[in-house]
Amino acid sequence: MAYFKYKEILFTPLAHSVETLSYVENEFQLLDDDTVIVSYPKSGTHWMVEILSLIRSHGDPSWVQNIPLWDRSPWIEVDSHLQIALKYPPPRLLSTHLPFQLFPKSFLHSKAKIVCTLRNPRDVMVSTYYFSKGCKDSKDLGTVEEFMESFLSGEVPYGSWFDHVKGWVEIKERANIFFITYEELQLDLRGSVQKICHFLGKELNSQQIESVVENASFHKMKDNKMSNFSLIPESIFDHTKAKFMRKGVSGDWKNLLTVAQSERFDDAYQENMCSVDRTFPWD
Ligand code: A3P
Repeated sequence: MAYFKYKEILFTPLAHSVETLSYVENEFQLLDDDTVIVSYPKSGTHWMVEILSLIRSHGDPSWVQNIPLWDRSPWIEVDSHLQIALKYPPPRLLSTHLPFQLFPKSFLHSKAKIVCTLRNPRDVMVSTYYFSKGCKDSKDLGTVEEFMESFLSGEVPYGSWFDHVKGWVEIKERANIFFITYEELQLDLRGSVQKICHFLGKELNSQQIESVVENASFHKMKDNKMSNFSLIPESIFDHTKAKFMRKGVSGDWKNLLTVAQSERFDDAYQENMCSVDRTFPWD
């Protein structure tokens, strides 16, 4: 299926349209009590939605067990989700994969809180490679090598990982943005939940935090049909060709990339990220 471009960034046609993207960028009003989950695709977005949903319900799992994930936190740039976002009673929990330059302009004057999740781009690429096999609106990815070149040049849906990360990291000094990595969540989910609660100004007792940690685990999410993608219809996602809750680990890229491919990736990473004044767990 052919992708289309909006302001130089590729988007898939089943879920997106120029009208919605333009509306979200120019007219969508962020509210001061919004919390927005920001991430490049395959960086742990759904995991963060589950964590923030559980924090919001003080660790009570009934919300995540009964309401589909995108109703709890709709993606503002997705045609069908935008309607959910517009009807969402505040305080809203919203998600987006948009790069900063396409994010609602209203953010500049708002106190909306942004939780930005980053992940090793090698794992992002590998996760995308497998996941896209199930996406009905995905182009044929070609070989791993061909797909890696598309990924490194940003010729993939939502554009360049490098530009996405640089765009968001550039506003890191703002008080209402919080950065966390997939790798930190893996290493210390409890500590990460505590840090997120602190940023959001939410006070949970240790029992409630324990319940967030338990119910946001890979295995719980994999069994939760409200969060594991099984509600996505076959017309959008072929469940026989890919699994959304695939491995849930860090470093799986080592199982796919050859030494030469990984060196090629390292060179491109260095070239694109050398100007960034921030270190990441995968550096
Ligand atoms: P893998 O394909 O590497 O397994 P996103 O939500 O941004 O699309 O990211 C999807 C990735 O997050 C997938 O990675 C998925 O398995 C992983 N993921 C989802 N829930 C998770 C959880 N509770 N713990 C660890 N990883 C999780």
